[in-house]
Amino acid sequence: MSKPAEFWNKIAEGYANSKIRDERAYEKKLKLTQNLFPSNAEVLEIACGTGTTALRHAPHVAQYLATDISSGMLEIARKKAEDQGVSNVTFSEQDIGMACWPSAQYDAVLAMSILHLLPDRSAGLAKIRDTLKPGGRFISSTVCLGNMAFFFPLLISAMKLIGKAPKVVDSLTHEELAAAITEAGFIIEDHHRMSKAKVAFIVARKPE
Ligand SMILES: C[S@@+](CC[C@H](N)C(=O)[O-])C[C@H]1O[C@@H](n2cnc3c(N)ncnc32)[C@H](O)[C@@H]1O
Repeated sequence: MSKPAEFWNKIAEGYANSKIRDERAYEKKLKLTQNLFPSNAEVLEIACGTGTTALRHAPHVAQYLATDISSGMLEIARKKAEDQGVSNVTFSEQDIGMACWPSAQYDAVLAMSILHLLPDRSAGLAKIRDTLKPGGRFISSTVCLGNMAFFFPLLISAMKLIGKAPKVVDSLTHEELAAAITEAGFIIEDHHRMSKAKVAFIVARKPE
């Protein structure tokens, strides 16, 4: 098992029981995303965690592949899907670094709270671009530590030292993140600064 998977497995139960920090922003993100799904949408989510977002989107799509590196997170997600009688979401254990998705397969790819945690973000973005259909949407929500007060990145560094934060947590700014998405070949259609500008919710399109 990889080190990042170990970290997330350990905290999976606690993560499942934690509250969504900004309910209003979360609901807005769900609505904005669902408005972008074409009919019969085929969707890929990377780093789906315990499946909360996947299960909210399920009624609005045809097929949904929800992936995560952590078997602990996925176990909880599968149980929730079963309890809710959701059958069009498949949960699959995948590390974005190793994953190999088919080219031009998906209408939308979602990445919620993961882009600041990737050791090789540009390689991840390139894979996402490749697996989207031309015109498909890449929708991400990312904590921008780089726009937060100086002590937040310091706090995260201290937490990393004692194993309370994952090894990779980038202090990205909104601008750096938008530039990385654009450099990966996407056209940014919408960039919302949510939760007092701590979070970037970005809708980007793969060119036709
Ligand atoms: C902050 S949580 C976000 C979970 C979910 N997307 C959400 O918004 O609640 C980060 C998630 O990324 C997953 N993860 C971390 N590194 C990953 C990788 N390289 N490939 C796939 N998933 C990864 C973790 O297991 C964890 O579930």
